Amino acid sequence: MTSKIAVIGFGNIAKAIITPLFDKKILNPKDFYCLVNTKKSLENIRNNYKYNINIFQANSKDSEIIWDCPVKILSVKPQQLKNIIELEKNKNNRNLLVSILAGVSLEKLIKRFPNHKCVRVVTNIPITIGKGSTGIAWGDEISENQKEAVRRLFENTSKINEFPEDLLDIFLALTSSGPAIIALIIEALSDGGLSGGLPKQLSEELVMDMILGTISLIRETNLTTTELKNMVTSPGGTTISALRVLENKSLRSALIEAVVSASNRSKEFR
Ligand SMILES: NC(=O)c1ccc[n+]([C@@H]2O[C@H](COP(=O)([O-])OP(=O)(O)OC[C@H]3O[C@@H](n4cnc5c(N)ncnc54)[C@H](OP(=O)(O)O)[C@@H]3O)[C@@H](O)[C@H]2O)c1
Repeated sequence: MTSKIAVIGFGNIAKAIITPLFDKKILNPKDFYCLVNTKKSLENIRNNYKYNINIFQANSKDSEIIWDCPVKILSVKPQQLKNIIELEKNKNNRNLLVSILAGVSLEKLIKRFPNHKCVRVVTNIPITIGKGSTGIAWGDEISENQKEAVRRLFENTSKINEFPEDLLDIFLALTSSGPAIIALIIEALSDGGLSGGLPKQLSEELVMDMILGTISLIRETNLTTTELKNMVTSPGGTTISALRVLENKSLRSALIEAVVSASNRSKEFR
């Protein structure tokens, strides 16, 4: 990656996206410029971040340099967006603005950043360890070279899916909220083991090994989830007894409604 990259808001998720690019030498820290809001964050990153980067505090005179970068990632909280003022005045440059803000629409971005071409990206926290899922919705007039530049930012640390914008909310519900749902399921199943007398830590390890093993089995054998379920459910056995309880407690419906609810909440941010 040769051209300069800027990040507006170098918080948790921005660090998760950018740090692996430094680690893998895809991006040189010298070509990276970022902006934070407070002096405290600026000093914290200067003193503790493992790379020496060009970092500025919002509204300082020096910080205007970030608007010269051809690719900017916008990574503030949605409620902080109102404080970001576009300083790129030259509409002919048509630099790229890649927003990772949950639920903020392309239409809203284009209004706030009229001198940029805008892209909406949804990614998730497993990107931190190179196992993320990233969804991209392109705005208008984005060249193939610019699309490649955006893909390069995410392809080393996540699987990329390109969508029409109206599918990003449900993508976000499944992949960004999903890790919390899975964590809750792991916790609850482990508590089941605990209730049966297993030590907490062992119970959690067993649950995680079982989930990883189940996913690998489905992927490696191309079994459908229904075929796998039928394979381990014998007449009058333990598994059908467990599944009966879950059907009775409407687990399936609760999970469907949880995903739909997260998607609807994302739409409310628009
Ligand atoms: N966390 C996730 O799993 C996840 C996943 C996908 C997408 N997202 C999206 O990613 C975005 C960031 O989330 P996060 O968890 O990384 O938040 P975060 O850790 O709070 O980071 C926000 C960053 O924005 C900076 N900032 C705030 N106001 C600013 C301003 N006026 N000018 C420049 N910088 C400013 C903050 O600086 P200070 O520290 O100085 O305040 C901080 O560096 C959100 O919009 C969220 O929807 C998050």
